[in-house]
Amino acid sequence: MVQRTRRDPRLTLHTHQSNQGCPFRHPCVMGSSRVSVSPSALAAGHVPVLRDEAIAALLPRAGGRYVDGTFGGGGHTRALLAASGPDGVVLALDADPAAIARAEALRADQELAARLIPVQSNFADLADVAQEHAFVPVDGVLLDLGLSSFQLDTPERGFAFRLDGPLDMRFDPTRGVPASELVNTLPEAELADVIWRFGEEPGSRRIARAVVRERKEGPIESTGQLAAIVERALGGRRGRDTHPATRTFQALRIATNDEMGVLESALAGAVDVLAPGGRLAVIAFHSLEDRQVKRFIERESATCVCPPELPICVCNHQPRLQRVTRRAIRPSADEAAANPRARSAVLRVAERLPASFSDVSGDHA
Ligand SMILES: C[S@@+](CC[C@H](N)C(=O)[O-])C[C@H]1O[C@@H](n2cnc3c(N)ncnc32)[C@H](O)[C@@H]1O
Repeated sequence: MVQRTRRDPRLTLHTHQSNQGCPFRHPCVMGSSRVSVSPSALAAGHVPVLRDEAIAALLPRAGGRYVDGTFGGGGHTRALLAASGPDGVVLALDADPAAIARAEALRADQELAARLIPVQSNFADLADVAQEHAFVPVDGVLLDLGLSSFQLDTPERGFAFRLDGPLDMRFDPTRGVPASELVNTLPEAELADVIWRFGEEPGSRRIARAVVRERKEGPIESTGQLAAIVERALGGRRGRDTHPATRTFQALRIATNDEMGVLESALAGAVDVLAPGGRLAVIAFHSLEDRQVKRFIERESATCVCPPELPICVCNHQPRLQRVTRRAIRPSADEAAANPRARSAVLRVAERLPASFSDVSGDHA
């Protein structure tokens, strides 16, 4: 496995190194550089969302080169390898070392060993990783955003409010700071802002006030503790379809992993590495990230990006993408019924235009 580190000067390593003060019986993973795949993670599974639609959108062909920026459980990668056989190659990234361990396990299949290149990396660095592996240009890039069922079903990862675990939420648990750091240190107004901006939670101020009150009694370290605080702050579960902590957990996960920032870098990197006619396919699971993908594709497809108040175009903007479908692709009723996780999924697809292809490798045929 190749490991690639993301340079982010804002991140400092959490220094919690022992189980002292840690409320969990398992070996503490907070801030530890040791990563293990827990038995619960191995037992769980992930059903790929919009798999056939996403693979068809990438127009796979024999000998093609594809980047799967979010390997997860490998459902999309496996389908892409099958559709680009016998010799298509997939460069598979994931920030999570446990996902990359699964990709390595897939390479035990001799037929796939030469066709799958797993790299532990943040997809923000997609263009750099592709270049380092002499994997430019590529015929397709897939991003299936968010978290996998493996992560959600593993309490130690701290993504789930239904399971008690350390309040971590990092896709790469060896880097950056866990969500508990934000919860226990952000000033009340900033915490409310995070919960409002990334969770669109109308009760953000009440939640932030309750968190700050509770943390005066002692640090909030577990998902169960936080879920209970949020539930109390919002007055319980009455009349709700979803758990009251759903939006708060989404907001903290987005902030902990700087999800909006890294998505912008990944989209830009994908366009840089795509060959003319190559396809970009992105599956988003909430309106914030879908809006960002939609706007990116609109901007990259526009012939003019001048402010509307200018009477004539002065930007000389060269479109690098064109939309493949006017409307976003959503799961069928059957898929949504069979897999509740798929219900909010939105797939957007764009194609790289040839005219202004800017070479990132300096070595295009
Ligand atoms: C929805 S899952 C992908 C599932 C996969 N398509 C499958 O079929 O099994 C999303 C994956 O993206 C990874 N991920 C999220 N943000 C990432 C980032 N910024 N860089 C790299 N991987 C990321 C997560 O660790 C997770 O494994």
